[in-house]
Amino acid sequence: MEITLNNIKLNTANIFPFIQDDEFNSIKGEAVKAYNMLLNYSGTGNDFLGWLDLPSDVMKKELLAIEDAAHFLRKKSDVIVVTGIGGSYLGARAVIEALQNNFKFLQKKKNRYPLVIFAGQNISEDYHAELLEVLEDLKYSVIVISKSGTTTEPAIAFRLLRNHLERKYGKEIASTHIVVITDEKKGALKKLAGKEGYKQFVIPADLGGRYSVVSAVGLLPVACAGFSIKEFLKGAEEMETALKGKGNFDKNPAMLYAAVRNLMYRKGKTTELFASFFPSLYYFIEWWKQLYGESEGKDGKGIFPAGAVYSTDLHSLGQYVQDGLRNIFETFIWIEKPKYPLSIPYADDNSDELNYLKGKHLNFVNEKAMLGTMQAHLDGGVPNMTFTIPELTESILGGLVYFFEFACALSGYMLGVNPFDQPGVEMYKKNMFKLLGK
Ligand code: PA5
Repeated sequence: MEITLNNIKLNTANIFPFIQDDEFNSIKGEAVKAYNMLLNYSGTGNDFLGWLDLPSDVMKKELLAIEDAAHFLRKKSDVIVVTGIGGSYLGARAVIEALQNNFKFLQKKKNRYPLVIFAGQNISEDYHAELLEVLEDLKYSVIVISKSGTTTEPAIAFRLLRNHLERKYGKEIASTHIVVITDEKKGALKKLAGKEGYKQFVIPADLGGRYSVVSAVGLLPVACAGFSIKEFLKGAEEMETALKGKGNFDKNPAMLYAAVRNLMYRKGKTTELFASFFPSLYYFIEWWKQLYGESEGKDGKGIFPAGAVYSTDLHSLGQYVQDGLRNIFETFIWIEKPKYPLSIPYADDNSDELNYLKGKHLNFVNEKAMLGTMQAHLDGGVPNMTFTIPELTESILGGLVYFFEFACALSGYMLGVNPFDQPGVEMYKKNMFKLLGK
């Protein structure tokens, strides 16, 4: 089966050898039920559906304020450190890394926009010490993001960075290098921002971290990196309209995706390996892993979301996927048009024996690697499906983000869990706080 909606095409032909027609027909009804639950606000966690209307809801005024803040930070910074963890950083990182040059950190002369880097997503002493060491000689600013305003990892990183900024610029100027994105009313970060007079953006109460990319959480860092948040929002809004308008299973790829992955799960394929052939999508896959892992892994249930970047990982995970435990299904994402054309040159001596590929684009070779992999994995007992997008642009990424959020909510409802809470994350915190004597 193949469904295209806006710029996303989903092809599930390589799943069908593993399922019966009656199984597929019966799960279609479940997908439609989940779709109605979502759009009628009648499912669990319905007080966290702020993301559902977000693209069409982000008011012009907020967009302008975000663009202004980005412009202000960009002018005074070579580097912008985004401080957050989980849903408070992965979306922005996914979008920025998908769009920017893979070697931007080496591109010093050409850079019109600051390098956006990330902290507060771990508590490694070396990571943060090394960060402070390199920031010593650079003009930088900090965007600190935490919905609760109490998460330990970004709080520690922010304390270090604030301290460093204040020593570097003096307290008053330092405060102009800081933007806080947090809850409207509560949390230690909110209090601190009020006390110090930092510029603030709000994460609405009905918006969970991993569904917040289309708010200031994702938009401000993406704008700082020099990408068009208007285009990103446009893509998300077009996808919102399209998905909300397609209650018919055969026209809605989010329903198809949610249905197929639940069918696979029920057949013992409990791991979904999300694979791309593009390193630029490494963090998009990380974002997807967090979105699906935190949304579905609960109550003793859930598809384990794993990721791979091929062909790199064909030389590491490839053996396992081909021949290991048969509990995997794969989801590929393919980009039709690269940002830059590059083909394989002719060589007089042909000593590397590559002349049979002379003049061929790398994307042509990459596609053959993907098609060969899909067939090999299918033959090895790994069903797979493929998303195809035309190219990597702000607007297509906006559409993709909204698409995967929407499909995740449907899939979670079909699985019978609340896709919008994360009670399990509290357990490690409790133990850590006890051990720290908090
Ligand atoms: O998706 C989520 O809700 C979580 O991953 C949070 O984003 C993460 O735990 C960070 O929380 P906070 O933004 O409160 O610091």
